Amino acid sequence: MTVLVTGGAGYIGSHTCLELLQTGQDVLVLDNLANSSEEPLRRVQEITGKHLDFVEGDIRDTELLDKLFSQRQIDSVVHFAGLKAVGESTQIPLDYYENNVWGSVNLLQAMQRAGVCKFVFSSSATVYGDPHTVPILENFPLKVTNPYGRTKLMVEDICRDLASSDNRWQIALLRYFNPAGAHPSGRIGEQPSGIPNNLVPYITQVAIGKREFLSVFGDDYDTPDGTGVRDYLHVVDLAIGHLKALDRLGTQQGCVAYNLGTGQGYSVLQMVKAFEKASSKEIPYQITPRRPGDIACCYADPAFAEAELNWKAEKGLDEMMADSWRWQSQNPEGFGE
Ligand code: NAD
Ligand code: UD1
Repeated sequence: MTVLVTGGAGYIGSHTCLELLQTGQDVLVLDNLANSSEEPLRRVQEITGKHLDFVEGDIRDTELLDKLFSQRQIDSVVHFAGLKAVGESTQIPLDYYENNVWGSVNLLQAMQRAGVCKFVFSSSATVYGDPHTVPILENFPLKVTNPYGRTKLMVEDICRDLASSDNRWQIALLRYFNPAGAHPSGRIGEQPSGIPNNLVPYITQVAIGKREFLSVFGDDYDTPDGTGVRDYLHVVDLAIGHLKALDRLGTQQGCVAYNLGTGQGYSVLQMVKAFEKASSKEIPYQITPRRPGDIACCYADPAFAEAELNWKAEKGLDEMMADSWRWQSQNPEGFGE
């Protein structure tokens, strides 16, 4: 039985393919390479010594999806494919709705035609907006503030409606907190296109001299040191969360949302210090105004995922930073394209 991984050449997808191969699963990746290349998949096969199948193509291509589902014994789908930059989503919202929402509908329709009902979806903690309190539980109100976030919430709603309409569907909505780090081999990791939006890749690019200094977006938040607090999660832990979700789908009914986070928040300045310790590099920074749309503090209550999926983040901040640094320092140009 094969797991279809959409967006499997990307950052989280490639780490998940690696874990799937290591547990002996057959993997078929569908990726249009809009934000990736084949190189991570080549390296995943090199690390694991196992083969995966790759099809270059788009989740919006109905004919291609029907062909894949009819030719292969696909048992489940892990759906990473999508556009993910919040700022860009405010500039080109229609591209986000077409790719993330319509693409997902097209994929679910193809699954329905093929009778494949196990679906794991990459959602985000962004669906909680600015929470009233932390830690965040899955039953907190959902509120989104930008087109990217709306695409995630829309697909969640579509999945809930679908599962209510037909009890054969088994769907896990995985709400990631802040993925960071890289595989400990140093061979695969995150390759942001252009200037990184996210904190950890920005820090690592300062460390290799690609960027002059880190802008710390605001030091006047209501947090212990005034800088934003987030729940940073090692990408290998996150990848394993997908395997646990797939296991759980065998017995889970309907559509269920799970927080994937550590439960521990760190501030921007704590992250800088942890990186400096792991890399022995100094990270120059300047305090700049808040980034519009940012919230003060966001971290998960991960107890539900632990109870239901038997999943818990195992890797701490030091390991995350050491792995980020290994990846960045050994691959200053990422995958080289
Ligand atoms: P990524 O950009 O590295 O990977 C996404 C992959 O999907 C890329 O390889 C891209 O080429 C592919 N893709 C995009 N549109 C496609 C399409 N129409 N058809 C086929 N392939 C397509 O991103 P990532 O960081 O690995 O994120 C994976 C998923 O997790 C995304 O849905 C993202 O929104 C979600 N997510 C990411 C984060 C994060 O911080 N990285 C946080 C929460 C949620
Ligand atoms: C961002 C996205 C969010 C997405 C998440 C994970 C925005 C507004 N939100 O959230 O939708 O789900 O990434 O991909 O883009 N910071 C700096 N300097 C930087 C970069 C970040 O100080 O150069 C700070 C931020 O203000 C924040 C923290 O670092 O306090 C983490 O930022 P980031 O990595 O962008 O993640 P989120 O803000 O959680």
